[in-house]
Amino acid sequence: MSWSPTSWQQRPAKQQAGYGDPAALASVVDEIGLLPPLVTSWEVEKLRNQLAKAARGEAFLLQGGDCAESFEDCRAEPIAAKLKILLQMSLVLVHGTRKQVIRVGRIAGQYAKPRSTDTETRGDTTLAAYRGDLINRGAFTAADREPDPTLMLRAYERAALTLNFIRALVDGGFADLHHPEYWDVSFAKGTPNAAQYQRIVDGIRESLDFVSAIAGVESEVLRRVEIYTSHEALALPYEQAQTRQVPRRAGWYNLSTHFPWIGMRTAQLDGAHVEFHRGIENPLGIKIGPAMTTEWLTGLLDALDPQRIPGKITLIHRMGAGNVASKLAPLVEAVRSTGRRVLWVCDPMHGNTETTPTGIKTRRFDNIMTELEQSFELHAELGSYLGGVHIELTGEDVTECIGGARGLTEIDLERAYKSRVDPRLNYEQALEIAMRISKHLRGS
Ligand code: PEP
Ligand code: CO
Repeated sequence: MSWSPTSWQQRPAKQQAGYGDPAALASVVDEIGLLPPLVTSWEVEKLRNQLAKAARGEAFLLQGGDCAESFEDCRAEPIAAKLKILLQMSLVLVHGTRKQVIRVGRIAGQYAKPRSTDTETRGDTTLAAYRGDLINRGAFTAADREPDPTLMLRAYERAALTLNFIRALVDGGFADLHHPEYWDVSFAKGTPNAAQYQRIVDGIRESLDFVSAIAGVESEVLRRVEIYTSHEALALPYEQAQTRQVPRRAGWYNLSTHFPWIGMRTAQLDGAHVEFHRGIENPLGIKIGPAMTTEWLTGLLDALDPQRIPGKITLIHRMGAGNVASKLAPLVEAVRSTGRRVLWVCDPMHGNTETTPTGIKTRRFDNIMTELEQSFELHAELGSYLGGVHIELTGEDVTECIGGARGLTEIDLERAYKSRVDPRLNYEQALEIAMRISKHLRGS
């Protein structure tokens, strides 16, 4: 069947906004289509090649960021803090995995959210659910919850501003290991975690100095890192608007991000999201939860990657601690029996969300760690390779997840809970996860 950036419109599309004014929507889509892309096709190709390496066991993917970015947080400090924690985690993971680490943010476009219900009721008022800053506004009024297509343009602009700042920071030496201030941990000096982290940084810095002395490698080479972007490609008009052909390359690229992913809520084989994604050249993530079946999964692989392109498919499993052996093992076996090589990544966050007795959404650090450990072990047992992690985190000192070295409790959740959607690991907890993963991998 023929494909075009709009062919998804002929299929049922779940989790869409339901805009009241189709002409206003069309005009925004046209406008975004004329603006320059956020990323380039060669970056997309480069990332796909790196993901292919990770699928072969030669690299490791670190994908992380907010559950949902907000327009309000499109500011220097939160962006720099997120970049910093991703870089620090990646450094720790290089140390643990002894492999190249591919850094991908849930950033510069993670503005649309799937919701479990279409509406939200407070008292006797029922309004449309908040679907992320790209779609509508969070305040509980009818006007705020009305989907507004101009927000898509605002999202595009914020994504561009975010990416511009990230690129400038990286170009300006933010990731240079010789700038200790960038690598400094801004927490808990003197704690065991801080000391362990410092040892890792010092060790890597020494190795780099050694290599540059011996090989005469320009420090410029060592100073630069790559950061890629990803988001859930949920709001299809937004994705369509930036999907285009580029000079001297075949095919269509979604240039709103390097690495879009499909959530399981929208992964129906005959649905609009699968239709849209089957036509683009980008590497694709697919989230898989406990309800995924082997037939559904192999159907998705056939639909989305009929040519078995290396690096094309990343399967991001989020089973929940306790479900790994029973739910993941059959899927790993099923994919193996197709003869395909995919990149397996563990998202230890979304299967471990719970609500406290006082009604706060949280996650326990221990459950997150357990799912990670179980996943590494299961893949190893099955002769497969877990080639990455997908984490919801922030570079700030929030209190949204319970546990970690500082032992955050339910009481602490009231102190600095900022997420409007899922609870994220804070700066310390995120770094601790990276160190625990490293330790686990070095130990095994
Ligand atoms: C998410 O990644 O924020 C998300 C909604 O995940 P999932 O679709 O896996 O629940
Ligand atoms: Co989330």
